[in-house]
Parts: sequence; C-alpha cells; structure tokens
Amino acid sequence: MKIIIIANWKMNPLSLVEAKRNFEIIKKGVRDVKQAEVVVCAPFVFLPVLKPSNYLKLGAQDCFLGDKGPFTGEISPQQLKKLGVEYVILGHSERRRYLAESTALVNQKIKAALEAGLKVVFCVGSKAKKPGKEMERQLKEGLKGVKRPDLNKLVFVYEPVWAISTTKNKIIATSKEALKGGLYMRNVLKKIFDKKTAKKTKIIYGGSVNSKNIGSFIKEGKMVGGLPGAASLDPYEFAKIVIQASRS
Ligand code: PGA
Repeated sequence: MKIIIIANWKMNPLSLVEAKRNFEIIKKGVRDVKQAEVVVCAPFVFLPVLKPSNYLKLGAQDCFLGDKGPFTGEISPQQLKKLGVEYVILGHSERRRYLAESTALVNQKIKAALEAGLKVVFCVGSKAKKPGKEMERQLKEGLKGVKRPDLNKLVFVYEPVWAISTTKNKIIATSKEALKGGLYMRNVLKKIFDKKTAKKTKIIYGGSVNSKNIGSFIKEGKMVGGLPGAASLDPYEFAKIVIQASRS
C-alpha cells in the first residue's frame, strides 16, 4: 500500500506569503519521493493560491454537508473540487470539541464530500487511553450509508486525542498503541463491511507525528502513514517526515 502523509496545518500560518513559501519548500523537498502520496491540508483562505502538483496534493480541513443553498459562511465540497482540492479532513477531534461537531454531522459531510469527488480523511479520535466504544460509535455512525466501493476514497486516521501535540499532558503514543488502535478500527470495519474490505482500508496515525517517530508508526505500528499537525508547520521537517516514511 502506498504511504500517505498528510499535513494538517490547522489555523496556520498567519499570512499568504508564508503559506505559499512553505508549500513551495515542501514541493521541492518531496519532489523525488515516488513511494508516497503527499497532501497539505491548508486553511480555506490559502487554497486558491497554492498550486498542487503530481507529487503534492491539496486538501481542505472541513466542508459543508451539501452542495448548494443559502448557507452563510460555508464552503461546499464542489467549490473545493473546482479549485483543485483533492482531499478533505472530516471529523477532527478539535472540531468535535470546539465546534460541537457530532458524528451524525460528520457522516453527512463525508457523504457530500464523496459525492463531489473528494477523498475523505476521516479522523477517528479516542479520548480514552485505549481504543474502545467511542471509536466504534464514530466509525459506525460516521460511515452510515457509505457504500463499500467508496471506501477506497477514504483514509482513516487513528487519533489518540491525548497524544495530540497541543494537549497539555505531552504524552506521545507508542507504536504498539498505534498498532492496537489500527487493529481495533479494522475489527469494527470488518463488522460493518467484511474482512477483505477491512484489510484493504488505509489507516494512518495522527498525534505528535514527527520525522523521528514516523518510521516506527509505519513499521511497528503497521500504519500506512501519518497526519502531522505541529510538525508540518516547519516545511523542512514535513519534507523529512515524508522522506523517512517512504524509507520505512
Ligand atoms: P499534532 O496534530 O501532530 O500537532 O499532534 C495532529 C492532529 O491533530 O491532527
């Protein structure tokens, strides 16, 4: 399975100049890496000016749950698609926490994004130390009505919420914990779909990913890639993550 590394810039950087500069540095840095799918998920305001290429794809961090209508402040999946955006992150724990996004809403957004031809980066977060029922609920509800053939347009992210770099506790998940999270998700996917589908599903890891630990999340944690947040803000470090991942 091809490695996937997705930068989640969150609400960064501050200026268009910086965003363009960082994107171009990444583009140069990952140009020769053929074994990885590399994506930058940037804030909406920068998407029209960042120029994706064959080896650096563009992603958004949210979208609306439908394509047309009077929805003040919203951005439709089709508008993103028209801009050349290929991916969209949905269900991130920060949106669940600060904007009270429910899994039912995430489910509608997933279906709208797929309908518009976007690939979905579906974050499944665990507030508990061990993967469990809250993840099962997110998967079951989040995937309601999603057809089996569409699963290859989804990248699942196992995100132990306590391991996200901006949380206060500064605990980093081990590759063994990532392995357990991935296995748990595959098991739920097996129940929803079937064994073969569950096996083929792309699951990446998110939570304090950097160039030093990405290798172990891939090798020992059996993840097909990662979703770095804080570390992706340094374009040289992000390119390093991609290079390390492609060697793992
Ligand atoms: P982090 O963010 O790499 O800064 O921990 C990951 C995420 O929240 O997606």
